[in-house]
Amino acid sequence: MMTIMNCLKPSGLRNISKALYTLNRNIASLSALPETHQMLHKSCRDFAEGELKPIAAKIDQEHLYPAKQIKQMGELGLLSIVVPEELGGTGLDYLAYAIAMEEISRGCASAGVIMSVNNSLYLGPIDKFGTKEQKEKYIKPFTDGTKVGCFALSEPGNGSDAGAASTIAQKENDSYLVNGTKSWISNGYEAEAIVLFATTDKSKKHKGISAFVLDKPIEGLSLGKKESKLGIRGSSTCSLIFENVQISSNNVLGEPGMGFKIAMMTLDAGRIGIAGQALGIAQASLDCAMEYAATRQAFGSPIIKLQAIQQKIADMALRIESSRLLTWRAAVLKDTGKPFTKEAAMAKLSASETATYCAHQCIQILGGMGYVTDMPAERYYRDARITEIYEGTSEIQRLVIAGNLIKEYEL
Ligand code: CAA
Repeated sequence: MMTIMNCLKPSGLRNISKALYTLNRNIASLSALPETHQMLHKSCRDFAEGELKPIAAKIDQEHLYPAKQIKQMGELGLLSIVVPEELGGTGLDYLAYAIAMEEISRGCASAGVIMSVNNSLYLGPIDKFGTKEQKEKYIKPFTDGTKVGCFALSEPGNGSDAGAASTIAQKENDSYLVNGTKSWISNGYEAEAIVLFATTDKSKKHKGISAFVLDKPIEGLSLGKKESKLGIRGSSTCSLIFENVQISSNNVLGEPGMGFKIAMMTLDAGRIGIAGQALGIAQASLDCAMEYAATRQAFGSPIIKLQAIQQKIADMALRIESSRLLTWRAAVLKDTGKPFTKEAAMAKLSASETATYCAHQCIQILGGMGYVTDMPAERYYRDARITEIYEGTSEIQRLVIAGNLIKEYEL
């Protein structure tokens, strides 16, 4: 299969796109973006239409992991979009990542989350904080869809309060003994390596949390039940139970005690990906509503002629366009090395609430047909809800936005 990089290389457009970053990037519309990104957009859309849309209902209904399609996405370069080429990645940027996440999730939101966890939550922190050896071992085999990774931060007793980690990594000479349970781990079943957060010094609270990267399976690690979920049912979610799991101090990511900051920085970037996923669900809902309203007859004409329907589709489009601009802005800020924590939280908050809104309106426009599984609207509604929960709930995004505003106002 032709990789995204192969599609882009002959034209040399990546260099042009890099040069454009020194200018004021125009993100007003897709056609204003560098050709690189437009080509990526088209490749992802074609793949989603041809390979993901046709299987999305089946993998949802039967809770199937789309292994074949994830491998294909890896071969296309979609599982390591921002990882440098020398490590086997695609070497693109976060704007490309946001665009790809939207298009893939428009075809199948489950494939979207599998892709986002591998890209930003697993590979992201290893690329940024890993040693040369860790990058060789834990990045290269995870770039092409052969293997996927996961990110273990939440616990049964703390999700939003990430600094209260109670999983312990006890230092013993040159190794650590890990005990505790991590929960809500996306990709938990299939993952062959874990970015793990555990406390190495409880007395220091969040400053005592350390990050590790380790193989899975490993002796002493067992998996909890596969969660039965409302949506994104093609991706697995489970607990990871650590009982006297021994890992080497070579498995520490960054410095001991840096874990909380690594987690926060990773989530900042991850939220751009989830914003992209939410946009994909929102756009799919609008597409579905438009197609249905153009053919469904009521009161003597297609319902798209009714003002009641037009009000809804206008509001859907408005929210999608504004969330997309927020998402692309956050990505460009990250790509240009500027602060983007607040903007990523805004993008994720806006796009996830837009996904819920658009899926709701899509069902409303389809009426009874929106409520049955013959049409995808009810799946979009179920898939949308998680985007307001994982990688920080909407309430946490508001806290992050407000916290940053208070700093900006020096209050
Ligand atoms: N980047 C770098 N450092 C940051 C940071 C950021 N974005 N945010 C905070 N920090 C630093 C602060 O500067 C501070 O540093 P010092 O100790 O040196 O002063 C430290 O971290 C503590 O900051 P806060 O006091 O603000 O931390 P807090 O305990 O009040 O928590 C929070 C802040 C925003 C609520 C945070 O806990 C949070 O984001 N919670 C949500 C967690 C989350 O998103 N979980 C999702 C799980 S993963 C998932 O969902 C994966 C999946 O399935 C797909």
